[in-house]
Amino acid sequence: MTQTQLPAVEFRAVAKRYGPIVAVDSVSFTIEKGTLVTLLGPSGCGKTSTLRLIAGLDRATEGAILINGVDVTHLSATDRDVSMVFQSYALFPHMTVLRNVAYGLISSGKRRPEAEEQARETLTLVGLGGLEDRLPSELSGGQQQRVAVARAIVLEPAVLLFDEPLSNLDARLRRHVRDEIRDLQQRLGLTAVYVTHDQVEALAVSDRIIVMDQGRIAQQGSPVELYRQPANRFIAGFMGEANVVAARLERLGAVEARVQLGNVSLTLPHRDVANGPIEVAIRPEAIRLEARSINSALPGRVLRAVFLGDHAEYTVSTEVGDLFIIDRLADNLIEIGTDVALSFSPSGLAVLPSA
Ligand SMILES: Nc1ncnc2c1ncn2[C@@H]1O[C@H](COP(=O)(O)OP(=O)(O)OP(=O)(O)O)[C@@H](O)[C@H]1O
Ligand SMILES: [Mg+2]
Repeated sequence: MTQTQLPAVEFRAVAKRYGPIVAVDSVSFTIEKGTLVTLLGPSGCGKTSTLRLIAGLDRATEGAILINGVDVTHLSATDRDVSMVFQSYALFPHMTVLRNVAYGLISSGKRRPEAEEQARETLTLVGLGGLEDRLPSELSGGQQQRVAVARAIVLEPAVLLFDEPLSNLDARLRRHVRDEIRDLQQRLGLTAVYVTHDQVEALAVSDRIIVMDQGRIAQQGSPVELYRQPANRFIAGFMGEANVVAARLERLGAVEARVQLGNVSLTLPHRDVANGPIEVAIRPEAIRLEARSINSALPGRVLRAVFLGDHAEYTVSTEVGDLFIIDRLADNLIEIGTDVALSFSPSGLAVLPSA
């Protein structure tokens, strides 16, 4: 295998225990060079612990960690080719923007003029040219975030680590800075590991997402795979809204399953579902409702109807349960109490093993 084919990061059955607490439970994954991979999951699932293990800020209790093919399991943080952007930015308040960014280079032995020249170039790259002489306190939150990013990328690390980098920003700025980080990562071909608990943020920035649950990997894949083909109820619910209802498995093929949902028969893709009881996860936007009776459709009655400008939300009672529906067309609102016919767009449905 040549150097360029080696993954940037590899975890081999890595565990991290704090006394009796298992923060990371025998986790294995690889992160390819030049990609942005997100660790996503609810609070306490082990995201920060995993990132700290990559950074060398904590040591693994078990397993092996490789960076560019080199076993770094027992190396300290300073001996690993990684740098971390913290949630709090951790800028030095008494240093100018330029000195904040040059600091890491100078402390690793670079002469000041060269370090500052390189810092200047990096600041221009992140759109902060002209602000070199300000103090962090004289910058907006988004600008401080960019200084933190500049300080990390100026070191040209093999892997760049982000721990919830947007959590101190307001909603609008969050989207903006999120897109900037992704743009910069792609433009420079950086390898990045990005921690968030926000699934929209994860969908927006990632090449791949690793979803964690209680210290383990629940599922990993591309944003589209995780959204369209959740492996279980936890992923279906975590990667956006989903109606999860019981259905009957009629016939199981290698990649497709014939499923009976009330009176409706559907052929759906599945991943590793076995014969036995199943459920179907249905995205709210994958259901089409019409205020008339259609033979091949699932009949229901509107329980709740809310007009929200660019879309409408409905709750419809059916024989398989109450379904939450998002109607993007929303020409005119169908009234509560109306009998409706529901049909399904297969790309928004996934077969799940029964929980
Ligand atoms: N230093 C520590 N000592 C003991 N337990 C710890 C320590 N650090 C983390 N834990 C525990 O390990 C588990 C995983 O923690 P971690 O910080 O990795 O979660 P997280 O996914 O980053 O959560 P959040 O989204 O809240 O930041 C939690 O149960 C946490 O309480
Ligand atoms: Mg955390």
